[in-house]
Amino acid sequence: MKSQRLDKFLSSQTVYTRTDISKLLWKRKVSVNGKTVRDGEFKINPDLDRIEVSGREIKYRENMYIVLNKPAGYVCATEDKNDPTVIGLIPEELRRKDLFPAGRLDKDSEGMVLITDDGTLGHKILSPKNHIAKYYVVKLAERFGENYERLFREGITLGNGESCLPAAVRCCPDSENIAFIELFEGKYHQVKRMFAAVENHVEKLVRIQMGGLEMHAGIGIGECMEILHNDVEKLLKPTRFDEVFSSFSEKFSSYWINKL
Ligand code: URA
Repeated sequence: MKSQRLDKFLSSQTVYTRTDISKLLWKRKVSVNGKTVRDGEFKINPDLDRIEVSGREIKYRENMYIVLNKPAGYVCATEDKNDPTVIGLIPEELRRKDLFPAGRLDKDSEGMVLITDDGTLGHKILSPKNHIAKYYVVKLAERFGENYERLFREGITLGNGESCLPAAVRCCPDSENIAFIELFEGKYHQVKRMFAAVENHVEKLVRIQMGGLEMHAGIGIGECMEILHNDVEKLLKPTRFDEVFSSFSEKFSSYWINKL
């Protein structure tokens, strides 16, 4: 990678403004390879130099990709007047400018949210054309109906007359009211409205996988994990419902049945 100015590097890799950076430099908080640097124009090479701010290393990332296990009560937005946002849950070391949630979960929903500053990837994940599946585990108020698999496969018509793309759904093994569903689109409250259309009610909804990337079981509710290149590729990988469902059933379905 080419050399670049220290202040420009810090601006692209952190949430600090130009003014914050000037202050940090002036207060001797910035070091390059262990030596304090106060000149923002100082040239660094991110591949070779170790840059620290207040003792914390700032590693170069062209883009940042974070998986968050969203708790209920947070909104998927960058700012909100009334509610805390998912962006507020990102720890300082992963924060930088322009992060946004790629796709929405409702305020009361939980689970996997991708947060990134890569607009192109965000768009790819959300566009139904790219066929990136999202997988949800859902607790229903009533029993899972015998006709649900067929009705979802044929395409549900929502209460307002809107049609949904065909979707796959199954009842989780050893349960009567925990469903596993695959969607390729993201209409407003879609899962809840699909089950309302078959006269059921979603009591709880957790997203557990996007494309070929499962949410790591070690990410606690409200916690984040940075994902690197290989995992970003998994996100974009086409998946097959039967394979994802059988792997889920083997590994996690009893976990979810107890948890939901
Ligand atoms: N469908 C819903 O109804 N809610 C979500 O949060 C996600 C999908």
